[in-house]
Amino acid sequence: METISDLSAKLYDPLLRGALKPLRQAIMHALPENKNIKILDLCCGTGDQLHTLDNMGYTDLHGVDLSSKMLAVAKKKSPRLTLHEEDASATSLTNASFDAILISLALHEKDQLLQHAILKEIARLLTSDGIAIVADFCFDDRTHAWGRFMISAIEAFAGGEHYRNFKDYTRRGGLPNVLPEGLFEYKEVDRVLRNGIGVWKLSAGR
Ligand SMILES: C[S@@+](CC[C@H](N)C(=O)[O-])C[C@H]1O[C@@H](n2cnc3c(N)ncnc32)[C@H](O)[C@@H]1O
Repeated sequence: METISDLSAKLYDPLLRGALKPLRQAIMHALPENKNIKILDLCCGTGDQLHTLDNMGYTDLHGVDLSSKMLAVAKKKSPRLTLHEEDASATSLTNASFDAILISLALHEKDQLLQHAILKEIARLLTSDGIAIVADFCFDDRTHAWGRFMISAIEAFAGGEHYRNFKDYTRRGGLPNVLPEGLFEYKEVDRVLRNGIGVWKLSAGR
């Protein structure tokens, strides 16, 4: 019998790939142009972001996800990716070994403890002059009503703890109010999907 995880690995790209294209582009534009930098996508899912970067000539691409089904889809699309089936909050990867770390649409569904653990893991894995790009939901007066409605409907469909964490995350004002004190400096660099998703660039805090 198919599990929820099998099903979401099968349906994620057909349902969301088109709609998320502007997000993939926004994240790519936030990255340095040097195509040889070492990039890690945490909670990479079906690897759609890594696949976009692979197509654009980035050469050293790594992904982490808990789901073997999601990773299998990613590997099929881009066989050159290096993929790890691991928990993003406690990976086996080496300290200060990535120039850029991405995490998209993955923090909002977690509780605050896990969000902090993942953000601390990002700080551990980044080189001293590395950057992180975080993309996630952001509802404020710039968000169009239709964007807010569509995103909330999809999250409500996910239901349970996922939806409770999403509501808490957006109520708190998104990423700036989730970051552990002093860990990163941050700047919003883009908004996509009717301004319902923000893209932030993070660098090591002083
Ligand atoms: C909503 S999907 C986002 C996928 C992708 N980042 C994107 O932009 O399309 C969330 C992904 O996070 C993965 N995930 C959830 N908790 C995780 C954890 N603690 N460590 C690693 N991956 C996790 C899930 O398996 C799923 O593939």
